[in-house]
Amino acid sequence: MDDLLTELLELNSKPVSYAERLEKARDMMRTRRRRQVFQLLGREIAIWESDVGEETDLAIGKRLWPGGVAFAEFLESENFNMTFEDKKVIELGAGTGLVGIALSFLGADVTLTDLPDIISYTEENVLMNTMNDNTPLCRYTPQVRPLTWGQDLAEYPRNNPRYDYVIGMECVYIEPVFNDLIATIKHLSSEDTVILIGYHVRIKAREEKFRKLFFDNFNVLGEFAVKGPAFTVLMARALPGENTS
Ligand SMILES: C[S@@+](CC[C@H](N)C(=O)[O-])C[C@H]1O[C@@H](n2cnc3c(N)ncnc32)[C@H](O)[C@@H]1O
Repeated sequence: MDDLLTELLELNSKPVSYAERLEKARDMMRTRRRRQVFQLLGREIAIWESDVGEETDLAIGKRLWPGGVAFAEFLESENFNMTFEDKKVIELGAGTGLVGIALSFLGADVTLTDLPDIISYTEENVLMNTMNDNTPLCRYTPQVRPLTWGQDLAEYPRNNPRYDYVIGMECVYIEPVFNDLIATIKHLSSEDTVILIGYHVRIKAREEKFRKLFFDNFNVLGEFAVKGPAFTVLMARALPGENTS
């Protein structure tokens, strides 16, 4: 039985007031953990989400987002013809890690990044899915590292390594950090890098603003809808002359 349900039933049998029970139930819902299992790339990928009912900025990174799920599923579709074997990939705002884990199973050498307070949650999922005891299950063991957009980018020296892909799913939702996100993508990309940024149109004016910034700063090669028109993936390279050192 669900752990939360067991706890609630136990609580119901104790002599505590209705108000206390309600408060405890709300508290448990806020901090609730949930496991979701995906059949992807011929295997099972299990993702733990945390603080499922919590509405804070940090809780955002501890949940699965539909665009991340859609992109991970799209990776195995026959319409998707990019290859990831032996490619160096950096993922921005990796959250629960589903996309980076799927890419690792495709043979990529992946670095998953997120805010310093989120990466322990990312790492938990990465380890549980890509290691069997101490035995790695992927060709390259995925790395999990902190990266706050626009900050301490020297920790990621330009062109060292040269990333084949810079990927970020569902990272376009905080307007005040759009410039930081663009600066980070630029910093990590060379003309050979394929940049894949996926976003849901939730607030049209906001996403349009990002789109314009993106088109101004990168050489956009294409745009494709994944699972319906509301989730768009922009594909680009750095502009010629940028970041060639
Ligand atoms: C909506 S979630 C998407 C998570 C994951 N990519 C997915 O699709 O499930 C956005 C992610 O961006 C991260 N994020 C938000 N602001 C950030 C910032 N300034 N620097 C780095 N990561 C950030 C969040 O912690 C979160 O993991």
